[in-house]
Amino acid sequence: MFWPVVAGEFVLGGLVEADPHVPVGGSSVTGDAVFGGEANGRVRSRGVPPFALTVDQGVYIFSVLQESGFHRSVDLSHPSGDESSRTVTTGLGKLTAGPGNLGLRDQELAQPQPGQVLVEVIATGVCGTDLHIADDEFPYEAPVTMGHEVTGRVGFVGSSEDESWVGKRVALETYFSTCGVCPHCRSGSPSLCSLRRSIGSREDGGFAGWITVPVNNLWELPDHVGEHAGAVTEPLACVTHCLLDPPVLNAGDNVLVIGPGTMGLLTAQVARAAGGNVIVVGLESDRHRLEIAEKMGLTARVLNGDASPGFIPDVVCECSGSGAGMAYALEQVRKGGRYIQVGISGKPVTIPFDHVLYKELTVTSGNASTPTSWRRAIKLLADKRVDLNPLVTEAAPIADWERVFAAVRAGEGMKYVIVPGEMG
Ligand SMILES: NC(=O)c1ccc[n+]([C@@H]2O[C@H](COP(=O)([O-])OP(=O)(O)OC[C@H]3O[C@@H](n4cnc5c(N)ncnc54)[C@H](O)[C@@H]3O)[C@@H](O)[C@H]2O)c1
Ligand SMILES: [Zn+2]
Ligand SMILES: [Zn+2]
Repeated sequence: MFWPVVAGEFVLGGLVEADPHVPVGGSSVTGDAVFGGEANGRVRSRGVPPFALTVDQGVYIFSVLQESGFHRSVDLSHPSGDESSRTVTTGLGKLTAGPGNLGLRDQELAQPQPGQVLVEVIATGVCGTDLHIADDEFPYEAPVTMGHEVTGRVGFVGSSEDESWVGKRVALETYFSTCGVCPHCRSGSPSLCSLRRSIGSREDGGFAGWITVPVNNLWELPDHVGEHAGAVTEPLACVTHCLLDPPVLNAGDNVLVIGPGTMGLLTAQVARAAGGNVIVVGLESDRHRLEIAEKMGLTARVLNGDASPGFIPDVVCECSGSGAGMAYALEQVRKGGRYIQVGISGKPVTIPFDHVLYKELTVTSGNASTPTSWRRAIKLLADKRVDLNPLVTEAAPIADWERVFAAVRAGEGMKYVIVPGEMG
């Protein structure tokens, strides 16, 4: 549904049992607004989007009623006399610059502008990039709500023409905006735009109850993708960018995947879907992850020093981000083969780069995702050629974020997602 704001005073939106007796800021409600009565000191509203109410004074707590029942409280507090509406969602953010400085914060929600949508977050994945933001090793603009691996349900749209999105379960592309005019934007490579502003680092991200994004960022998820696993679509789109744009392997190629984290197991699945014979390797400490790989029907093994993985790879996909992983990849790949850098080291590393020359290797990579890589990711999901469901270790309430971040840092499990609607 499209929710118009009327005359800057009240808002209205849905249909529903108007009750003019509910004292909202001392003013009456007109139009097809929606107040269903008062209970326990709370005004209940039905169908009112959380941002869509302006009150003159006082403090009102609204529960947003959805088909499933009341499930969220939205604080619409105002200082007396402040006529601007204020709607807040709780988000896990980088609060100020410097290492650390993470915490829960109240984040203002605005009504979506034309071309934007407001998505109610179901789950958001925790990724190495979030740790880098925590450690001050990745660019961001504080204060900002983190989280860029988002799945949710479209709640409200800024334009009536986008109404058909309301209620759809989606995953989100991550660029809130790009400049649109640089050579990269103009040639279809927004991932290279220096002015791109991504959710979770420069724009408020998905570790919050709601997120605003451009409608063009939405991808509807196939029903069989698990509720929480939908958050892993974004890393999958990074992998399809690395492997399929341009394509780096062909049916029958031997593909070695180094590093059995989320990125490695997505890479292995995409390579298999493209017809590769895939072997995934990891460290002794990765046994639990290699077991997940095997359950997914992949061949997986622990690396023993510099031993051969068991075949001569035509293609190596470096998904560990470690210097040792890069060196191993360069050593193992066949002459004339292809080297794909998926992992990020985050610091200079020493590697035998001469292999690129002596073996006449083709080296490619991919940073983040593009609309094209999302199209490929969604197709692979729809065709059940990539399975995200086994990759989710835990869906944790947002209040547990410190424990979850520590687990990710320690390499426990696989993909942790945060469920912002649950406060723990
Ligand atoms: N290209 C992109 O757009 C993009 C997007 C997201 C993440 N990344 C990067 O991809 C990398 C992997 O991400 P992830 O979430 O799977 O990380 P992760 O840390 O969960 O997984 C990395 C795995 O590699 C293993 N490993 C480390 N050294 C190894 C070695 N020498 N040989 C074999 N295995 C080794 C680790 O034990 C771990 O299991 C990270 O560097 C991340 O920053 C890239
Ligand atoms: Zn990520
Ligand atoms: Zn640009």
